[in-house]
Amino acid sequence: MDRLPELLCGSDLVKSFGTTRALDGVSVSVCDGESVAIVRPSGSGKSTLLHVLAGVLTPDDGDVALRGDSLARMSDRQRTLLRRSTFGFAFQFGQLLPELTAVENAALPLMPGGVRRRDAVARAGALFAPLGLDGLQDRRPGELPGGQAQRVAVARALVTAPPCPIRCAPR
Ligand SMILES: Nc1ncnc2c1ncn2[C@@H]1O[C@H](COP(=O)(O)OP(=O)(O)O)[C@@H](O)[C@H]1O
Ligand SMILES: [Mg+2]
Repeated sequence: MDRLPELLCGSDLVKSFGTTRALDGVSVSVCDGESVAIVRPSGSGKSTLLHVLAGVLTPDDGDVALRGDSLARMSDRQRTLLRRSTFGFAFQFGQLLPELTAVENAALPLMPGGVRRRDAVARAGALFAPLGLDGLQDRRPGELPGGQAQRVAVARALVTAPPCPIRCAPR
């Protein structure tokens, strides 16, 4: 079967923190519509790899290309816009803002793009039923059990319909 078009490609990625080499020449290729799980022991560089692939961290060596465009050749501003339009992050510990309601948290990534608050909340709210969160829109994160808070974080990662949603889940 033909492979779908390549979406994201990391080549020979190297990243060190002081004397710790978190990535030592890693290459990865993800096609449109493909789901990839990176399952490795704790401390082996999974989060570092995801952050490098999404342009949050700059690799010491190697490069990342999104639909063939090199991230290294983009300006900081272009990479920031790319993160907003292309990647959706559901962090391992949710990282929801405690003072906002669940649906306001999920709507947040739409706000910098200029979507009106009411429209953003409506779009985020539409994800609640499919994620099993019906009726929980107005709860604060502190009033949700961990699994439901994680799903609110997933709603926030999906609300912009990004081509590259990324979920960092504990094993
Ligand atoms: N910001 C950082 N500063 C120093 N060391 C780091 C930093 N981020 C990650 N590391 C180190 O890099 C290695 C890989 O970490 P990480 O990518 O978080 O692994 P994983 O997500 O697989 O648990 C670990 O040894 C970790 O301690
Ligand atoms: Mg990690």
